[in-house]
Formats: sequence, C-alpha cells, structure tokens
Amino acid sequence: MTQTEVRLADNGLFAPLSRGETYFNYHWLRDACPTTIDPQTRERVFDVTSLDAAPSARRARVAEGVLEIDWANEDHVTRLPLERLEAFATHGQKPDPADLPRILWYAGHDADFRRIPQAEIETTEAGRARLARALIEEGVALVTGMEDSDASLTRLVNCLGPVTPTAEGHYFEVRLEIAPTNLAFTAGPLEMHTDLPGEEMAPGVQFLHCRANTVEGGRSLFLDGAAVAETLREEDPVAFDLLATHAIPFFYRHDGWDYRAHQKVIELDANGNVSGVTISQHLQEDMDLPQGVLDSYYPAFCKFIRMMQDDRFVCRFRLNAGECIVFDNHRIVHGREGFSADSGQRHLRGCYTDRGATWSTYRTLAGRERQAA
Ligand SMILES: [Fe+2]
Repeated sequence: MTQTEVRLADNGLFAPLSRGETYFNYHWLRDACPTTIDPQTRERVFDVTSLDAAPSARRARVAEGVLEIDWANEDHVTRLPLERLEAFATHGQKPDPADLPRILWYAGHDADFRRIPQAEIETTEAGRARLARALIEEGVALVTGMEDSDASLTRLVNCLGPVTPTAEGHYFEVRLEIAPTNLAFTAGPLEMHTDLPGEEMAPGVQFLHCRANTVEGGRSLFLDGAAVAETLREEDPVAFDLLATHAIPFFYRHDGWDYRAHQKVIELDANGNVSGVTISQHLQEDMDLPQGVLDSYYPAFCKFIRMMQDDRFVCRFRLNAGECIVFDNHRIVHGREGFSADSGQRHLRGCYTDRGATWSTYRTLAGRERQAA
C-alpha cells in the first residue's frame, strides 16, 4: 500500500488534491471527521471547543484515497475520503437541489403559469415536486381542480409544509365584511402589495383558494417583483441601490395587535441577485429615514411603485372557483381590481406556509428522484 506523507503547517495541512496541494484548516478538518456526526440522528455530537488545545496534526498521510490525520493533543485519528475534500474545494457546501435559478416573468405570463391539479399534488411525489419547483423558479403556480371545502386548502398546504399562523389566525377569508380589519375585505381595488410586511418576518408562501367568484370586476393582478427590480437596476441603478440599501417602516395594527417592522423594498441574496421585494403602501408608516436621504429615496420609491402598475409587468386575470393560486409572498406582488359588490359572490380562503418548508420539501423529493434514477 502506497502512502504519501502530507505537508503540515501551524494551523492546517496541504491535502494533495487533483488541483494540486490545497490548504485545509485543522479546526475545520477535526469538525469534518465522520465520527463527529451521530449516525442515528445525523446531528453533530462533537464540540470542537471542548478540546483542551487547538487541534493540530502530529502526522498526516494519504493512503488509498483517504486522508488519515493522527491528532497531536488527543487520542484520535480522523479518516477523510479525499473525494470529500475534492468536492468541498470545488463546490463549497454540498450541492443544493433547491438552488435553482429564478426564472423572471412579465405581463401575459399568467397563461403560462404552471397548472397542477390538486389530486396530482396530493397523491404523487412528482406532483408535489412540480409545485415546489414552480415556487422556487417562478414564485407562482396555479392549482386546479380544488375540492370546494375548508379541508381542501389544509390538505394542499400540508403537501408543502405546516400552516404559518399570523395575527389573523391560521386561515383568512377574503370576502366582504361589515367591519373589515383589512382593505382586502372590502369591494374596493387593492393596490399592488406583498402581505404583512409589519411582521418581523413576513409569511413566506401564500395560498388563495378561490371558492366563489361570480362578481363583475375583481380581476386578480400579479407581477414578478424580482423582474421589476432587475429592470429598475438596468434603467436606474442609483434608484435600485437606494431601495436595496435603506429599510422603511411598516405596521399591522388593530384592536388587539400592533406589529411594526422595517423592511428593505428590494431584497438581495448572497450573490447580489434580487431575491424579493416588500411593498405595501396601505401598511406603510411615515418614512423615518433622514429627511435629506428622502430627497433621493422618495423619487426612487415612486418610480418603483409606478413600474408596478406598468403593462410590461402586470398580469391581469380572473381567478375562478376551484383554483388556488400559490405564490412566494417575498417575491410576487399582488393586488385586485375593484368589483361590484352586488353583482355576485366573491370568496377566497387563504393561508401561508414557510419558504423554508417549501424548499425542504423540494430537496427531499429531488433527492429521492436522484436515488431512483
Ligand atoms: Fe394580499
């Protein structure tokens, strides 16, 4: 058996990888030892801070594709397949099946929203994966053939994750109310918005199950906030930076609650791409940025709001009874045209689940697909 000695340094070693000698820190290597993970719970059962002295190698060598480290200050040997170090050096963390590129969309795309029957989602893993994938890539999907019952929505949501409660409870009913707590519960038009920005973390994925819609008017308005924001970045990068840098205050206030939170209108991910937007003029407090900053912030803000009414971006369509629109509340901006209250019935039943749960569902299903392939 051929063994190759590994070159050691004060705080780490140089692993012989296909790309050449590659440096790894000793703390990282000790934490990466396969024995640190409990095979039953798959959680970490080793605490690197419990060592008397910082980890340091007495000796390290490679034999048959395995890096073997004999630790200096403890009676322990770590055996790490070089493959794992190769993968980490090349890709960083384990590949994430849910790390799918966003597909931006524009006006007219409602005809191409992915339509998935409720029965397919509830009875097949492929159906569930299609729904989760549509939400990750496009931020929206339309579920068709919904059973007309309260339980129907619960069953659908639970295909992705648990219902996330809000001040309104687990579910909300969008229909005319005598003493409404929200403009949504009136017949008036509802400007383009994302839901509940006054919460510290606004709900992630929203469901609106249309139980009845026979009124005149009341078309649904949807747009891709990420597409609008990326367009703003191209057309007016200074305005884009202002909206992506400063947070502004929102509220959600009624008799029994008083939520307040600051949010950035444009949210960026770790790569600097637009991951979402937060817009809700009817739940926005007086802006509390310095008045001098507002001289430039307000024009940028107004420009962005006006873009959200632009025919380039807005999809206008009628949501029909038996359909449920599902969308990423941190990315997709929605609203409603006014309707004639006496002309018929309009009833949407809504709720939310987490984006994290949705992404987790997709990872689990995509992993099984790979194993089966
Ligand atoms: Fe809403």
